[in-house]
Amino acid sequence: MEVVIVQDADAGGELIAETIADLLRRKRDALLGVATGSTPLPIYQALTAKVRAGEVDASGARIAQLDEYVGLPAGHPESYRSVVLREVVEPLGLGEGAFMGPDGAAEDVQAACEAYDRALAEAGGVDLQLLGIGTDGHIGFNEPCSSLASRTRIKTLTRQTRQDNARFFDSLDEVPHHVITQGIGTILEARHLVLLATGEGKAEAVAQTVEGPVAAVVPASALQLHPHATVVVDEAAASKLKLADYFRDTYAAKPDWQGI
Ligand code: PGA
Repeated sequence: MEVVIVQDADAGGELIAETIADLLRRKRDALLGVATGSTPLPIYQALTAKVRAGEVDASGARIAQLDEYVGLPAGHPESYRSVVLREVVEPLGLGEGAFMGPDGAAEDVQAACEAYDRALAEAGGVDLQLLGIGTDGHIGFNEPCSSLASRTRIKTLTRQTRQDNARFFDSLDEVPHHVITQGIGTILEARHLVLLATGEGKAEAVAQTVEGPVAAVVPASALQLHPHATVVVDEAAASKLKLADYFRDTYAAKPDWQGI
C-alpha cells in the first residue's frame, strides 16, 4: 500500500485527477469506479477542469457507481445515481449511456445486486476505483464486520453513518436505513484502488486502515490485501499515522514518471 500525504483536499484532488487523466490517455474507454460523499468532489472538479482545458479527452470514459440507497424514489436528488450524474457524468460531458450503477429501486434487491456484479465483470472490470472512508472505517457502504470476501449486496447502515449523512437530507429520519454496496470482494477486483481521506475526523479510521491489522471490523483495512492500493490523505487525516515521516520521505524520493 502506498500512502501519499498532501497539503490539503485540493492537492489530493489534483493528484488523483491527474492519475485518472493519465489512465484515460492510455485507455480512452477506462471504467472509472466513483465514490460519493463530500471528499471526492475536488477530484471531479480538477478532472473536469482538465477536460475543459483540453488536457485530456474523457469522451470515451465509462463511470461505475460504488453504492446506492435502497428505497429512495427514482430521481431523488440524493440518490447516488443522481449525485454521480450531477457531479461526475454531466460535468465530464458524458451521457447516461456511459454510466452504470445498481438499481436501488428494484423490487428484487438481491437480483439487482447480482446483476450489478455481473455487469461490472462483463464491462471488463473497474480500472480505477475511487474510495472515501467512513468515520467507522467503511468503504462503499461496507460497514464494520462486513465480510472481506463480500459481493454486491444489501447492507444496513450504522447509526453513525446515518448521522454522518444526515447533512444531505432535511432530517435524520429521511436517511435510508438500507443500501446496496459493492462488496469488499467486488471492490478488491478493481485494478487500482485510490482512497482519499481529508480532515481530522478521518484520522483514526485512516490509522487503523493503514497501520492496524487486516480486520473486518475496519473494512478499509482490506486495502492491505490489494497489490495496487493508494491512500491519499491530507495532513489532518494523516495526523495519527505513526509512519507519517516514512511515507513523506518515500513519496518525496519517488521518480515523477512513476505516478501513484
Ligand atoms: P464523506 O463520506 O466523503 O462525505 O466523508 C465518506 C464515506 O462515507 O465513504
